Amino acid sequence: MSSLAGEVGGLILENPVMLAAGILGTTGASLRRAAMAGAGAVVTKSVGSIPRDGHPGPTVVPLDIGLINAMGLPNPSYREFQEEIDIGKTGGIPVVASIFGADPDEFASIASGLTADAFELNLSCPHAEKYGAELGRYPEAVQSVTKAVKARVRVPVWVKLTPNTADIVELGLAAQDGGADAVVAINTLKAMAIDIESGYPILGNRFGGLSGPAIKPVAVRCVYDLSSALDIPVIGAGGVSCFVDAIEMIMAGASGVQIGTALQRGYGVFGEIIEGLSAYLERRSMRLSDLRGLAMRRT
Ligand code: SIN
Repeated sequence: MSSLAGEVGGLILENPVMLAAGILGTTGASLRRAAMAGAGAVVTKSVGSIPRDGHPGPTVVPLDIGLINAMGLPNPSYREFQEEIDIGKTGGIPVVASIFGADPDEFASIASGLTADAFELNLSCPHAEKYGAELGRYPEAVQSVTKAVKARVRVPVWVKLTPNTADIVELGLAAQDGGADAVVAINTLKAMAIDIESGYPILGNRFGGLSGPAIKPVAVRCVYDLSSALDIPVIGAGGVSCFVDAIEMIMAGASGVQIGTALQRGYGVFGEIIEGLSAYLERRSMRLSDLRGLAMRRT
């Protein structure tokens, strides 16, 4: 089998296929299961400074093209979450803690209160008042949050960017200027669905974030634009469901890919993607690094 091992955003990984934040990373057991299923790294559900119940239900609308969620960042607070990270670590792969806060100080104090292999800063949730994209759509905020966290931790810091902006590259450059080790693109696209019988929005929060196959072409374009402009690695997320999608992301410039919505099919998705990627490389006698950014060629 072709080796898929290498460095991604300051972490040495067995393979570049990771569990995305939010989907299954709510417990140490689920992080460990993703590791056992072959993931190269796992990202936790986002945690904040105080416990949150999240938005009222319904919190998910399944669609043929993906799903819309408005979970509302439910979490037990970072103080209650270290144990889950520690259990996740027994899977033997890096555990990346996804964190959110309302300002640079809150982000920095959460990061300094947790032990993880890296941090992913959620500056992109499209449906939580005071958090996520409410800060992350402003380059100055992205830069100052990143800088504040970098000043307090000694592990890599990734910044997950919002696509709900006119120019994702300026957000990526702000993360880079703040000292980020990588950016992750993209979080969900702000979306809504309406029940035509009642005439009400389906989600308890009225709107949420669209993920899954529908957003993959947007994610590929964002990865391409970011990879063309930034010096730091870009990690692709958004609708990756099979090895072909993963290769597309890597050809757009991604150093790694994160899997979220596709895990509705089960943990076996990791193995399918890793085997497909490896077989593709072997068939073509290529290394992973040969694929990266291939779509940027002009000749
Ligand atoms: C949520 O928990 O509300 C989803 C998180 C996100 O969209 O970043």
